[in-house]
Amino acid sequence: TVPSAVQLILFGAAGDLAHRKLIPALYDLHREGHLPDEVDVVGVDLQEMDPAAFVEFSCDAADSLGRFFPRDADADNWAAFSERLSYVQGDATEPETYARLGEHLEKVGPKGERPHRVFYLSVAPFLVESIVKNLAEAGLLDDVERDRFVVEKPFGRDAESARQLDRVLLGTADEGQVYRIDHYLGKETVQNLLAFRFANALFEPVWDARYVDHVQITVSETVGVEHRGGYYEGAGAMRDMVQNHLLQLLCLVAMEPPVAFKADEVRNKKVDVLRAVRPVTRERVHEVAVRGQYGEGFLRGERVPGYREEPKVAKRSATETYAALKLEVDNWRWHGVPFYLRTGKRMPRRVSEISVQFRPVPHRAFPSGADEAFQPNRLVLRIQPDEGIVLRFQAKRPGPQMLLQPVAMRFDYDEAFDTPPDAYETLLLDAIRGDATLFMRADQVEAAWQVVDPVLEAWAESPPAEFPNYAAGTWGPAAADRLLARDGRSWSEPL
Ligand code: BG6
Repeated sequence: TVPSAVQLILFGAAGDLAHRKLIPALYDLHREGHLPDEVDVVGVDLQEMDPAAFVEFSCDAADSLGRFFPRDADADNWAAFSERLSYVQGDATEPETYARLGEHLEKVGPKGERPHRVFYLSVAPFLVESIVKNLAEAGLLDDVERDRFVVEKPFGRDAESARQLDRVLLGTADEGQVYRIDHYLGKETVQNLLAFRFANALFEPVWDARYVDHVQITVSETVGVEHRGGYYEGAGAMRDMVQNHLLQLLCLVAMEPPVAFKADEVRNKKVDVLRAVRPVTRERVHEVAVRGQYGEGFLRGERVPGYREEPKVAKRSATETYAALKLEVDNWRWHGVPFYLRTGKRMPRRVSEISVQFRPVPHRAFPSGADEAFQPNRLVLRIQPDEGIVLRFQAKRPGPQMLLQPVAMRFDYDEAFDTPPDAYETLLLDAIRGDATLFMRADQVEAAWQVVDPVLEAWAESPPAEFPNYAAGTWGPAAADRLLARDGRSWSEPL
């Protein structure tokens, strides 16, 4: 249940994530009636902004990126909500900021009842430790039941630094107060993977190495690095996307059925998958991992610059904007089934999908020539856009001859349901309610780093010779095709 009084404190309130996602999500939650009447949204940032400017900034965010339109149709509702907004300017590394913040929260909060407080750390990673320590020292994390904070990724840069960060966080707060966010887990279609697998009797019996040939997970984006060069240069596709979003998808596809939908039970089953991933040895990195960086190219008919020409990016940058990885899950269910993961910026299309490729039938009884177009069954779980599920199977082509042709059966989210809430709405509401099921536990984060660390280390040691190695607007470097060709397979064209 939602507590009757809540204060949401956004660190980095003047930043990109607050504007694009957090503020629109909060307003939409309010409009849907999910937030209590006693709610305060307090922005904290280094930037000078008077309270009216913060209201204007928030109105702009909600209007352009939310589901309601505060400037126009929704002006009255917005007026009521905007009274709950306030702003505290301050340096997040200065204890004095927290003394002021504490007083401010007392002042704007409800009298009598102690509100629940969610501190959202939408800040550069180097600030996280300092903010949490300062919050604790100011007594703002004292109430283990009511005070919690949300940490954005990247959570460390490798297993060692993630452990180190955890030592600091758990030295000052309780694990139950730490919400490590991976916004992919809040996407409706990602959550639907669990419903699809574990609420239907039909698919689970064929969900293993006996029937599945291999699995492909694609998260392609058309955007480039935009104005995030400063962050991205130190991250790259492996840290920015694979370590978190793609490995989460892998966990959901490959996990065993949970006994109950309880936070720890689901998370235990996911960690089991990561632990079963066969460690990539340094000698094998070049066989199982491919990196790429986009050069200039054309996207939808327009010329777009190469990564090295983007703002705040080094002229000889070795940062990868594309990564592909072949993983194997060493357990009973998945023995010998490769999982191919790929993600990249400046690809021809924005698509996130999981494609489960089944084995061919054991014996083809049809007359010769009938099955020239034969393609094994494929199940595609489409996460975005055009959310849905597609099953490819063979049909007989109408006519006098027995000729087979692959056809598709489709389920479309849009047709069946209303527009789903944004992932950030779901996750913010969970954080408010204190439900951590869709957040990451420390051991999950660490296990995910252990999967990618050997690759990152090998890549750091031998900078790429031929970057950029794919043109913007293409599906990545040729080496990524060879990764599958070596196994006699190819990337499937996203549906
Ligand atoms: C973020 C990454 O976590 O996910 C970005 O930092 C990426 O680089 C984004 O663009 C993609 O999210 P979505 O929801 O648009 O698929």
